[in-house]
Amino acid sequence: MKETVYFGSIVNSGFEDLLLNKYGSSRKVIMVDENTHDHCLEYLLTSFPSLSEAEVMLLPAGEENKVMEVCFQVWNALSEYEISRHDLVMNLGGGMVTDMGGFIASIYKRGVDFIHIPTSLLGMVDASIGGKTGIDLGPYKNQLGVFSQAQAIFIDPVFLSTLPEDEIWNGYAEMLKHALISDEILWEKLVPIKSVEELVGLELIQQCAEIKLGIVQKDPLEKNERKLLNLGHTVGHAIEGYLLSKETPIAHGHAVAIGILIEAMIANRIGALDGSDYAKIEKAIKDHFARIGFESEEEIESVVSLMRNDKKNSEGLIKGILIHKIGKCETDFVYQEDLVISCLRTFLS
Ligand SMILES: NC(=O)c1ccc[n+]([C@@H]2O[C@H](COP(=O)([O-])OP(=O)(O)OC[C@H]3O[C@@H](n4cnc5c(N)ncnc54)[C@H](O)[C@@H]3O)[C@@H](O)[C@H]2O)c1
Repeated sequence: MKETVYFGSIVNSGFEDLLLNKYGSSRKVIMVDENTHDHCLEYLLTSFPSLSEAEVMLLPAGEENKVMEVCFQVWNALSEYEISRHDLVMNLGGGMVTDMGGFIASIYKRGVDFIHIPTSLLGMVDASIGGKTGIDLGPYKNQLGVFSQAQAIFIDPVFLSTLPEDEIWNGYAEMLKHALISDEILWEKLVPIKSVEELVGLELIQQCAEIKLGIVQKDPLEKNERKLLNLGHTVGHAIEGYLLSKETPIAHGHAVAIGILIEAMIANRIGALDGSDYAKIEKAIKDHFARIGFESEEEIESVVSLMRNDKKNSEGLIKGILIHKIGKCETDFVYQEDLVISCLRTFLS
């Protein structure tokens, strides 16, 4: 099934038709977190009076809550409300809500239809698209999950007006990733961006979202080309997972940005990525994202040990993406551990 993605004002999209025609007699559940409850829900409810009877499920905000314990609470609530397999779940939030809400809906009664209304930039250009749903297991990011596509995705930048500035830059990290794996011209357009205002326009969001859409439509189950979207994530997920339980967790987008930088250094050190492209990537990341630092060698070892259990690995090897040049990357590249450790030391100690 191809995912249907609507870009632009949700009010003028196919949303109302979908609700009335396909789900007219279905009960509706809206998943929100604390922030999208406060900032996004009212707009949706006032724009669509037919949602006045919807059940609202409030999830605790933050990556640390993308866990099974919260899913159990929601599944119990769905059962209590007697939500049936023919009803509809709407996920109104960032990547945390769409990942977990999609997972909850996909498992409940063997699958209830769901739609995504992403409210973060990262959700709009990346997380809401492509049918990966899931939750974290301890320090392992998205360790539990299923591929399950949304019935529709509504990408409306109106929701970004309340998104904190830091969160806009987190979305920018995934936009840079899309450019690095496929589009040098987009890279040149993204790198000079200095203000969040330049990032929240529909045209750029749609261009980035369509890169992801094009890739996942060709390879929905990540057998080949879709693996490219993991650029920055082999290292980034390990850093994010390691810091998840610490006093200073790192946002997903920020971790991906640091991951891209370290993976670019790995590529440069083995001679795959030339110095000039490496310097451009290093500058772009350092100009837009804060440095992070670890205090001890043990912390670096902990990050590497998480990388050993990454979902993309096989044959006991750490596998990730190799950048050849801006706009061109290779999948299934084996990362030598000593090189990874040396590059992590360069940036994190
Ligand atoms: N499924 C995929 O293909 C895929 C791809 C990339 C990332 N992800 C996942 O996405 C998650 C990261 O997504 P994210 O950065 O959107 O995180 P998030 O959902 O935690 O949102 C970030 C913060 O912004 C708040 N927020 C969201 N929209 C808001 C709005 N309009 N106004 C005010 N506050 C708002 C949230 O409450 C949260 O505090 C991670 O869990 C990551 O693993 C999934």
